[in-house]
Amino acid sequence: MWQQLILAGHFYLMTLAGKKILLGITGSIAAYKSILLLRLLQNAGAEVQVIITPAAKNFVTPLTLATLSNKPVLQEVSDGESWANHVMLGRWADLFIIAPASCNTIAKMAHGITDNLLLAVYMSATCPVWVVPAMDEDMWKHNITQNNLQLLKRYGVTVFEVETGFLASGLTGPGRMLEPEMIFTKAEIFFKKQLPLSGKKVMVTAGPTYEAIDPVRFIGNYSSGKMGVAIADALHYQGAEVYLIIGPTALNLTQKTYNIIKVTSADEMLEACLQEFGNTDAAFMAAAVADYKPATKADKKIKKADGGLQNILLTENVDILKTLGSKKTDKQLLIGFALETNNAVENAQKKLSEKNADFIVLNNLSDTGAGFATDTNKITIFGKNGAKQQYELKPKDAVAIDIIEFVFHTQNNR
Ligand code: CTP
Repeated sequence: MWQQLILAGHFYLMTLAGKKILLGITGSIAAYKSILLLRLLQNAGAEVQVIITPAAKNFVTPLTLATLSNKPVLQEVSDGESWANHVMLGRWADLFIIAPASCNTIAKMAHGITDNLLLAVYMSATCPVWVVPAMDEDMWKHNITQNNLQLLKRYGVTVFEVETGFLASGLTGPGRMLEPEMIFTKAEIFFKKQLPLSGKKVMVTAGPTYEAIDPVRFIGNYSSGKMGVAIADALHYQGAEVYLIIGPTALNLTQKTYNIIKVTSADEMLEACLQEFGNTDAAFMAAAVADYKPATKADKKIKKADGGLQNILLTENVDILKTLGSKKTDKQLLIGFALETNNAVENAQKKLSEKNADFIVLNNLSDTGAGFATDTNKITIFGKNGAKQQYELKPKDAVAIDIIEFVFHTQNNR
């Protein structure tokens, strides 16, 4: 059900797969940013048809846009021989984004002037229309522009704000077009409402926990956090509201647009989980939580000379999965993970019942390519009703999709 695409070694989750988007570009210096917007929409699987106004050609070339979109760029209602069917274009699209929308195009849209193809398509559009303005500060602030934008809003057009910053005139002020990534994220959110997990709140734990011995030393493990992050990504792309609670990791999370709660120790992870669990529909417990912590943490770095490190007294950490298992309601799904080296199936099934989980995802460390720090995994999922499914070795992104499919979308697994 969920599609994925591997392009030049990059793995794209197709958040806009099957969506038809008209991208209207008008005459503004910000038009160059629309090239990146086009790329972002396409990489997410959208089919994009570009329409430009005559003035836009002064800023970006139709050839660039046609090459990137794999479609002729539409410019004229008629080229003398054929006629662009603006009515069908307006009905074809799921969304019409006009970015940048110049002061001139906004004025014409507000008053029903259709002297180019973009404006004719706007008048015929049955899909939502977004206007992303870009112009100089004085034009932006002018009463005529502000009144025109009010009119467009009244006609049902979604009008985005401008950003404040450096403008083409050399001045600094409001008038800059929103960044392409921001427009893309808004498109993702818009279509997300139609995604399979929209309206669900989910929690994911990932990575290791570090248990402090003194201010500079800890007990930890080799977990990279990759599996949990792949699950959080896939849940996010399927429309869920995601809370990722993650221990120390080298993974770069700066581009993620869901909620991330960074923790260090098992106690901190427990606290964050208890904070979020009450309102979640499902919790995926992929973290490699340390089973033990030092009974005491030295205030100062323990020196060699002290000769006092022959033994570290350990105490058991709280089992977070088990704690949530004792609190969960019938409506909540709890998914545990089991990392085993021997008696794998028996141990996984024991964890399923002892921790009151609905599912256990088993990784067997004796399988080549499975487990910590690899980019692949080989899993078997057990459901509390006896359902069982074994999978081939796959990239962790694909494994994440399998887990979500089994937990949420396959009948009779619960
Ligand atoms: N888990 C947890 N809190 C702990 C220990 C484990 O929430 N203190 C969770 C893990 O996130 C995982 C599941 O319990 O979802 C199983 O973890 P695992 O380390 O395989 O099992 P343990 O219960 O720790 O048992 P053992 O180490 O003896 O196999």
